[in-house]
Amino acid sequence: MANESDEPKASPEDIHDGQAVYDRRVLAGYDLGVLGLSCRLIWRCPKSFMQAAYNRAVGKRHLELGVGTGYFLDRGSFETPPREITLVDLNPVVLQVAGARLARYQPSCVRANVCDPLPVGPGIFDSAALNFLLHCLPGDWSVKGSVLSGAARALRAGGQVFGSTILAEGLPVSGPARRLMVEYNRRGVFHNSRDDLAGLRRALESTFDDVRLTSRGCVALFEATARGWVEK
Ligand SMILES: C[S@@+](CC[C@H](N)C(=O)[O-])C[C@H]1O[C@@H](n2cnc3c(N)ncnc32)[C@H](O)[C@@H]1O
Repeated sequence: MANESDEPKASPEDIHDGQAVYDRRVLAGYDLGVLGLSCRLIWRCPKSFMQAAYNRAVGKRHLELGVGTGYFLDRGSFETPPREITLVDLNPVVLQVAGARLARYQPSCVRANVCDPLPVGPGIFDSAALNFLLHCLPGDWSVKGSVLSGAARALRAGGQVFGSTILAEGLPVSGPARRLMVEYNRRGVFHNSRDDLAGLRRALESTFDDVRLTSRGCVALFEATARGWVEK
């Protein structure tokens, strides 16, 4: 299990590196390259598993943290179609690309670092997604847990948080997955070399009720219920 005490906290450079790679060229190849090929062949989690969580858990007022291309919101077949969508990302190109793709929802686009207090809410969203976001964020589970707390603060009591993250420990990591993970951590695109399943579970259970954690390959998929935020 990862030792949380000796992991460096997030530096501004690491925060920057975790989102800077998503320029127009990378975003143009993202759906096919990352969500299509890497998910299935490297991380061993076909994107249909993420899509199923979106279809099930997106509510009327939805908060999307770490937006990418907006693929899953665009392709969703929702039990409760969203009426209001707020997209939060640090990368302005991401917000332009996904905002245009999801224009039919007239999304609100908010440029923010999810490791800082979120400039949304509190207590207003029915659902919040963090899909493939936590493994991009530098820091230990206390830092990543504070991002989950930010999502919890934005949700109403009973609201659903859901998402997925690629883990380095606690799930089977194939040889090719390990090599790609090491390379992405070296480049600063990923910050997950100490991310483990037990730490993710603790971070979720300390903030949410009814934690549901499953896995496919080295991807952990989570859903949980917000307790309702009380300002201290
Ligand atoms: C791997 S992509 C995931 C995109 C999408 N959620 C998906 O599942 O396809 C990570 C996204 O998180 C954003 N991101 C990374 N670090 C961030 C940070 N500190 N604050 C806000 N957004 C961040 C990136 O710009 C990118 O859009």
